[in-house]
Amino acid sequence: MTHQVRAVVARGKGAPVSLETIIVPDPGPGEALVKIEACGVCHTDLHYREGGINDDFPFLLGHEAAGVVESVGEGVTDLAPGDFVILNWRAVCGQCRACLRGRPWYCFATHNAKQKMTLTDGTELSPALGIGAFAEKTLVAAGQCTKVDPTASAAAAGLLGCGVMAGIGAAINTGNVGRGDSVAVIGCGGVGAAAIAGANLAGAAKVIAVDIDDRKLETAAKLGATHTVNSKETDAVEAIRELTGGFGADVVIEAVGRPETYKQAFYARDLAGTVVLVGVPTPEMKLELPLLDVFGRGGALKSSWYGDCLPSRDFPMLIDLYLQGRLDLDAFVTETIALDEVEKAFERMHHGDVLRSVVVL
Ligand code: APR
Ligand code: ZN
Ligand code: ZN
Repeated sequence: MTHQVRAVVARGKGAPVSLETIIVPDPGPGEALVKIEACGVCHTDLHYREGGINDDFPFLLGHEAAGVVESVGEGVTDLAPGDFVILNWRAVCGQCRACLRGRPWYCFATHNAKQKMTLTDGTELSPALGIGAFAEKTLVAAGQCTKVDPTASAAAAGLLGCGVMAGIGAAINTGNVGRGDSVAVIGCGGVGAAAIAGANLAGAAKVIAVDIDDRKLETAAKLGATHTVNSKETDAVEAIRELTGGFGADVVIEAVGRPETYKQAFYARDLAGTVVLVGVPTPEMKLELPLLDVFGRGGALKSSWYGDCLPSRDFPMLIDLYLQGRLDLDAFVTETIALDEVEKAFERMHHGDVLRSVVVL
């Protein structure tokens, strides 16, 4: 059997996305068909649309989603119809070198559904990050589904599937923020704001939010930043040093992805402190640093992929914290929109007007 559903498709480089009817097959072995309830709009979706990832158009966009399992394929034993799940783009293989060495968050042999979703004329779709969830239903590998408490709102839960997990994980998994630490977060969009929430969960004593947009600093304060710095008006490194007794922060999280903010992060950390890079630069960006500073400051320079998360470990835990009122995922949802409003949401994202627009189905 196949399913005809409505979905958001990017047909060509830079062209506006369109709402299309697509054909979704029933799940094959190891696969699950998921009825999508909510899917956040992420920068990576726009990046796909602009051809910045690859040229495998048409893309089925959307990858920050939660929904309900409709049916499962042969051999799937740990999921059943009716399960409420968050989708992930890293279903670890368990067999590669990274997995075998106990670092599955660096598994690049992740599983996606093998069967193809298509347009009505048979053209194969490329699902964004192996998910494709701006659709009423999508097909994924069973390992891309993590069961969580079904009482959570789908709009909030879906955000853990990408940007919010990247930020929280940068603080708690990669940065290893500990009780009493001082933490600075440079760039307080969706990812940086989540890093602030993560630093708080980990027990940081001081959380300094840095951004050039006062609106973002306001949200940062709501999510638990103890200090805010507008780096358009004030030198970020000096301000962070001043707020930490002249030393610099124990952990600095960079969530912009630009040379000047990488540099600020590098110098804003205390001697032997940790810099966590979660902002993704473009291929041509370069950073020049005196080697003596690299040598002399000690500590650690780390980058964080998907918050170094393990969905099966982290998603249920974070949903529990959300339901207990200890993690305000709702604060990330600036607006909920319909499937046909994704193009407009890209525009608002481009202007920095939103933390997250979330399509609710
Ligand atoms: N200094 C400080 N903040 C800055 C600067 C700067 N020079 N330039 C931009 N910003 C702020 C913006 O004002 C915005 O609040 O950085 C934030 C970026 O946020 P978003 O555009 O919402 O992006 P986000 O989804 O948070 O992702 C940030 O993390 O995972 C990566 O690919 C992602 O590189 C991107 C980064
Ligand atoms: Zn692996
Ligand atoms: Zn994303």
